[in-house]
Amino acid sequence: MSESALDQAAVTAALDEFLDPETGRGVMRMGQISGLTVRDDQISLSLGLTTHSAPLWRQTIDQLKEFLRTRFPAAREINVERSTFERPPEKLGEIGLTAKSVIAVGSGKGGVGKSTIAASLALGLHRAGCRVGLMDADVYGPSIPHLLGVSQRPEIVEGRIQPIKAAGLNIMSMGLLVPPGEAVVWRGPMLHGAIQQFLRDTEWGPLDYLIIDMPPGTGDIALTLSQLLPLTGALVVCTPQDVALLDAIKAIAMFRKVNIPVLGLVENMSYFVCSSCNERHEIFGHGGARQRAAELDVPFLGEVPINVSIRQRGDAGEMDANFDDEVSASVLREISVRLAQQLADQNREQPPLPKLNVL
Ligand SMILES: Nc1ncnc2c1ncn2[C@@H]1O[C@H](COP(=O)(O)OP(=O)(O)O)[C@@H](O)[C@H]1O
Ligand SMILES: [Mg+2]
Repeated sequence: MSESALDQAAVTAALDEFLDPETGRGVMRMGQISGLTVRDDQISLSLGLTTHSAPLWRQTIDQLKEFLRTRFPAAREINVERSTFERPPEKLGEIGLTAKSVIAVGSGKGGVGKSTIAASLALGLHRAGCRVGLMDADVYGPSIPHLLGVSQRPEIVEGRIQPIKAAGLNIMSMGLLVPPGEAVVWRGPMLHGAIQQFLRDTEWGPLDYLIIDMPPGTGDIALTLSQLLPLTGALVVCTPQDVALLDAIKAIAMFRKVNIPVLGLVENMSYFVCSSCNERHEIFGHGGARQRAAELDVPFLGEVPINVSIRQRGDAGEMDANFDDEVSASVLREISVRLAQQLADQNREQPPLPKLNVL
């Protein structure tokens, strides 16, 4: 990187080398810079960032300041403000879902906290400022309505299913359609149909992220999803026990088989912090998931401790309250930030092409 003289043309040229986290393209040519003034030893500008990049707003502004400082050492004062920037999502696949990123959250087996992590990811993104939908694709064992304390039946308006709004999220789940405790018996094709309807006929609205809580195990639903729309990627949840890790490896292989890129591995119930001695107890050992992730060339997106409040709030349908309590909020928020970071890194490495519509 070379040092440049401090003038408007040089700053304008340099700004185009700074890449937008969402598109992976230069912020100048994407029209995201406004109010640029270069005067004496001062640079001021406003960088427009979309709500899709919300978890990265602060760090992106800091990175741009640092970039300008390195490029233009003569600039004693650098002011970068963030402004709102709109870039509507395109319709995805033949089902026409309007979302920028579709993320599946999966695991090899049940009970590892997949739904908890999926809901936390959705809530974390929403709290940061993103527009988020949460779709429960666990048709046999839906738990999203329970975790978020919703039970209203979705309304149908002009043939479109209206998702239930809770904690700022648009939510759709089989649990909202079938009375609790009632067994659902589905054949494969019906399952496919239900998932297709959830995606195609739900009024999701324009979304930055659609988070999909996947059923555990087999690849049926993953295959169905991959045939319906281009998924951005999958997040795999595991626990530190070896057996669960082997299950996680199967889940990673399953996503890869249906061409869904694996964006990261999250280790849940990773350790326990004792409330009386404040010590960290690593009940199932430490570092296994991180090491496996490295071996499998999957980004490791973090560890979530066993936390009694996370369990209690989940059971009480108050998952959202985890974000009002800094102890749980900091670890859960971290997942959404790291995921957004992972997407941004990928986009900068290989800018995504406009989505193809197969209409
Ligand atoms: N980090 C955690 N700390 C404490 N309890 C947790 C944690 N993650 C999940 N749980 C609890 O474990 C149980 C299973 O979680 P759930 O998200 O439903 O798993 P899955 O979707 O993988 O079957 C729930 O009671 C949930 O509240
Ligand atoms: Mg679940």
